[in-house]
Amino acid sequence: MRMYKVFLYMGMTILGFATSGFALAVNDGAKIFEDACSECHHPKKKPLDDTHLSREKWQEAYDLMVEKDKLDAPLSKAQLEELLNWLVSTHGPASTPATGVPPDAGKN
Ligand code: HEC
Repeated sequence: MRMYKVFLYMGMTILGFATSGFALAVNDGAKIFEDACSECHHPKKKPLDDTHLSREKWQEAYDLMVEKDKLDAPLSKAQLEELLNWLVSTHGPASTPATGVPPDAGKN
């Protein structure tokens, strides 16, 4: 009986590690954006679909969101990296439609 409890405990510990590892693995940028940003930024409200920024500008925007206390909790460094990678690949300057006008022209 005692042994059983020990194994149960060990099992739960291992499961705990396994799930936290898993959570890390699925924490890709899209998911992080959904968790951290889409509460306020989604297609019907403050959409960011047409926002195309460089990595630096996304970083600045993120900092602004933190500064303005918009996020429930700041992201970890690794999460922020993932988010920025995702934002730049989907909403970076390179994915800008060729209108001839850089979308952040006029800003700053
Ligand atoms: C609680 C609501 C909220 C959350 C969560 C939030 N934002 Fe914002 N965001 C805003 C508001 C409000 C503004 C407009 C701020 C202003 O102009 O003062 C804004 C502005 C922005 C802008 C500038 C938009 C533009 O048109 O220039 C960017 C970029 C942005 N947010 C990115 C993000 C990202 C990335 C996240 C997630 C890490 C995020 N936001 C999370 C509310 C939020």
